[in-house]
Amino acid sequence: MTCPADGRAFFLLDLMALFHLVDFQTPYEYLGHQHPQKALHMCGIIGYIGQKNCVPIILEGLRRLEYRGYDSAGIALVSKDSLSVEKKAGKVSELAKHLGNGSSTLSGSLGMGHTRWATHGAPNDVNAHPDWDAQKKIAIIHNGIIENYLSIKTKLLREGHVFHTDTDTEVLAHLIQSMYERGNDLSTAVRLALSEVDGTYGLVVMSVHEPDKFIVARKGSPLLIGVGDGENYVASDASAIVSHTRHVVYLEDGEVAVVTKDNIETTTIDALKVHKTVEEVTLELSQIERGGYDHFMLKEINEQPETIRNAMRGRLLVDEGNVKLGGLQNMMGRLLSARRIVITACGTSWHAGLVGEYMLEQIAKIPTEVEYASEFRYRNPLMNIDDVVLLISQSGETADTLAALREAKGKGSTVLGIVNVVGSTIARESDGGVYIHAGPEIGVASTKAFTSQLTVLALITLMLARARGMSQEDGIVLAKEIASLPDKVQHILKNTDQIKAIAEKYKNAKNFLYLGRGANFPVALEGALKLKEISYIHAEGYPAAEMKHGPIALIDENMPVVVIVPRDGIYDKVISNIQEVKARKGRIIAIANEDDTEIANMAEHVIRIPRTYGFFGPILNIIPLQLLSYYMAVARGTNVDQPRNLAKSVTVE
Ligand code: M6R
Repeated sequence: MTCPADGRAFFLLDLMALFHLVDFQTPYEYLGHQHPQKALHMCGIIGYIGQKNCVPIILEGLRRLEYRGYDSAGIALVSKDSLSVEKKAGKVSELAKHLGNGSSTLSGSLGMGHTRWATHGAPNDVNAHPDWDAQKKIAIIHNGIIENYLSIKTKLLREGHVFHTDTDTEVLAHLIQSMYERGNDLSTAVRLALSEVDGTYGLVVMSVHEPDKFIVARKGSPLLIGVGDGENYVASDASAIVSHTRHVVYLEDGEVAVVTKDNIETTTIDALKVHKTVEEVTLELSQIERGGYDHFMLKEINEQPETIRNAMRGRLLVDEGNVKLGGLQNMMGRLLSARRIVITACGTSWHAGLVGEYMLEQIAKIPTEVEYASEFRYRNPLMNIDDVVLLISQSGETADTLAALREAKGKGSTVLGIVNVVGSTIARESDGGVYIHAGPEIGVASTKAFTSQLTVLALITLMLARARGMSQEDGIVLAKEIASLPDKVQHILKNTDQIKAIAEKYKNAKNFLYLGRGANFPVALEGALKLKEISYIHAEGYPAAEMKHGPIALIDENMPVVVIVPRDGIYDKVISNIQEVKARKGRIIAIANEDDTEIANMAEHVIRIPRTYGFFGPILNIIPLQLLSYYMAVARGTNVDQPRNLAKSVTVE
């Protein structure tokens, strides 16, 4: 179906979610009213067709996509019947420099750019995208993986094709060429090639053969078309084009579109016409810009009082001592009759799940297990129809978490999501769930998503505890405590000078140990992960008492040991663990409560935290650890927002 630029039907995208009135709806309502604001993936795509010179537009788009994590970048233009491609390993700035930093002679009004995160082939100039066919007439950029590329390549090699890269994407370019040479037009050639492909893709193809169009296609990797006036854009997420247009068409899996400067025609891969609607993106430019902070990570750490507030807004009913979560309302029966809850996730979201296990078991008294999604998906877990599986994901696109969702669903379990990105795949495929409403998280190291995930887990716990018999009086106490968290986080954030000084002192350490017990053991894991990710210092998180079963051998006067030691029921036990470290001259950095008068005698540094109810403590205790890793990375001069080898969302296995 055609989507002319002057015939738009707009949906006010995600308006309800903006005011925190809705959580997950049924899948049907989802497709009708909820759409991805921004999907976060490895690799980035931007393309332009219109009247303007596309080079600056593409470079700007590539810069906006940098947060995804990538290791090379490239640009291709079709002009005067020729295809020009320039690509460089490293950052977009390298590519811009290579193009003469604004003084480039390269120009044209049909072009596309890509940031690549290497899967097949080393991250170098040659393997960067765009790739092209044997005649250098067809160019392609591709997010995703062509799983059967080797068998296609073998067939093409037999036909005489010569390849110059190690990528799976180049194979697809040659396959499209081979279909084109059989007399098909470009869009048919792309569709025929894709029908031979197993794997995932968000891709854009352009060619000197038909220099007035892009062919774009999606399967498992987001792609949208930005609609302009006499010009159109393609992108892997809206942040790349939102400075030019807010009007977008989202492609769904299995769709292919032909995009000219005035028109968009979408079909299925089998050439059946598809009606698409032009929608409006609510994403504000300020949300994806740094707003005066040196790094996105610091901005996002500082946003936490507000993001935690947003996670509970309209949901936490303090006077009733209860919680209302629209996206779980239809699921209450299943949640209350669940034999157990299985939480599955990756990375930071998995750490949030571990804290959730403490909350759900100790407060709501529901047996809960937590498992890495990457393990869950392949171990053929024994699931029951009355198990509820809870997926936690910031991006809603993590490949392992999505596969775990499908595995659980296939076994008949109810699947619920705790997700940040509205309309992401996990949100859409869940039976219900709760958005954390943290807003775009750009820094690769997850910070505000973690505390919002914990806040939502606290809300779910309180809601279930009340439904399972907790008194209103007790509910009010917990609800008040949850409501007080944003101010307490704000208070902790004032303490940056002390944390900066600690970072300066230990910036050359080779190893760090993080210890915690109970619900703070996952905080130790998360603190260690943050440090590893952005400062590249080896760090391990351990349950404090486990230390004597091995890691204690590492402790000497060079080992900084961060201990989370709030005044809770196991305070004395953690103090004993601190003594064990101290006896071996370890350097103790304690995260302790403001009214703890004993700790200063044992620790070299004490970072003070306001008191809260034990199981909500992780929401506060992680804040100084985020700041510590941030200032360590700054002191070491690493790339805070785009650490090496990492991507914001891991959409491949
Ligand atoms: O988007 P998700 O929450 O599913 O991502 C899961 C992990 O990839 C993510 O938390 C990762 O560990 C972060 N880089 C942690 O800072």
